[in-house]
Amino acid sequence: MHEESPVQIVVLAAGQGTRMRSQLPKVLHRIAGQPLLQHVLNSARALQPSAIHVVYGHGGEQVRAAIADPAIHWVLQDRQLGTGHAVQMAAPHCAPDGRVLVLYGDVPLLRPETLRAFLDAVPAGSLGLMTVVLAEPSGYGRIVRDAQDSVERIVEEKDADAEIRAIREVNTGIMVLPAARLGDWLARLENDNAQGEYYLTDVVALARREGLGIAAYMVADPLEVAGVNNKAQLAELEREYQRRRAQALMLDGVLIADPARVDIRGEVEIAPDVRLEPNVILEGRVRIGAGSVIGMGVLLRDVEIGENVQVLPYSVVEEARIGDGARVGPFARVRPGTALDSGVHVGNFVEVKASRIGQGSKANHLSYIGDAEIGAGVNIGAGTITCNYDGANKHKTIIEDDAFIGSDTQLVAPVRVGRGATIGAGSTITREAPAGELTLSRVPQRTRTGWQRPKKKALGDN
Ligand code: UD1
Ligand code: CA
Repeated sequence: MHEESPVQIVVLAAGQGTRMRSQLPKVLHRIAGQPLLQHVLNSARALQPSAIHVVYGHGGEQVRAAIADPAIHWVLQDRQLGTGHAVQMAAPHCAPDGRVLVLYGDVPLLRPETLRAFLDAVPAGSLGLMTVVLAEPSGYGRIVRDAQDSVERIVEEKDADAEIRAIREVNTGIMVLPAARLGDWLARLENDNAQGEYYLTDVVALARREGLGIAAYMVADPLEVAGVNNKAQLAELEREYQRRRAQALMLDGVLIADPARVDIRGEVEIAPDVRLEPNVILEGRVRIGAGSVIGMGVLLRDVEIGENVQVLPYSVVEEARIGDGARVGPFARVRPGTALDSGVHVGNFVEVKASRIGQGSKANHLSYIGDAEIGAGVNIGAGTITCNYDGANKHKTIIEDDAFIGSDTQLVAPVRVGRGATIGAGSTITREAPAGELTLSRVPQRTRTGWQRPKKKALGDN
């Protein structure tokens, strides 16, 4: 970036987005779980601009509330009279020195590296345009060049004749302007065009008339500058975003079974040789240590996973920590506030919530463990339930080291099972089970000899 040219950014986000056919303002539709506008703002912020102005209008309050970033200066554009009019709304708030970079709130994949290269390529005092060559340019403003190949003007599709429509170099809409000229140019825009709009693109012809340099910077990848106009394009850019994330992870050494079937919606830190099976979804902050395998269809949200952990297929783990060598699933649900120490096994159809399970303990089948503190070396039999809720309050279950909980036990909290205690299968435990002893609450078994099953009555009998 030019040292002497501080950059301020204007993001255009007031458009209605009719073609989205949605109640939601266009810029709030999501890619990788984040609003389109948030992606643009992330790239904007990476440039360390002196200010970020967002021109909003359609669905205004909803947009502001969804973004909620105090560093953003919001500028209302009541009626959407065109891109030139939109920038005009922001212009009085721009400092008169340096440069103004115009971005679109619905172009989510533009990388800061590309924006930096663009700014570097445009000499101070010049007008800079980001352009791209498209095989199918229809709908875009065309870049018209003179005999010396210098940019002369931009002509919108609707104002173009056949010859201009044949031009395949188009305007991406990303533009950098000298702040000192901004207000004057915008004031001179007119709306005597096919759409009756104030076109920002008309500043190109104005700048040229003043003899200013016009630098066109061509980007190579059309997807990077692609805007979202409908839900099909949204899905296309989502896939492209995911492809890039998967590519970056693979180059960092992560094994991804199928990069077309992984979704990353947050910040991830994954050690080399971790394996992600198909249809894994990673959300929020996810850390996965070396040697771990994340099975098919697993959802991880805000989790920290140690080394050599196996999360087996179709498990859901949220806001939890999983220690080294642990095994979770298949079909396990680990809910917020859970910490599994190293070597813990949580098997199929086991739900764990706000609990800590100590080293090497196992709950392999069909259990609910909520608000529990479980020591090391504990065995939880199939069908064990912590009855943590009395209808009004939650209570704690404490199970000390090396306890053995027989299958189908209900632990009515608050309750404690002492160290090394054994609970007989089928028990309902309501009071402390002393350490080292066998406790059971089971109706004694009876046999009635000679008892007969009732028989079906024959038809006609009374
Ligand atoms: C614009 C460009 C066109 C370019 C294309 C790239 C103009 C006149 N045309 O056309 O050269 O090829 O983008 O996609 O600039 N917006 C507002 N307020 C408004 C109008 C638009 O905030 O009054 C915002 C929209 O929300 C959108 C962006 O500006 O983010 C572009 O608007 P859009 O209507 O999509 O412009 P195009 O006609 O596609
Ligand atoms: Ca557009």
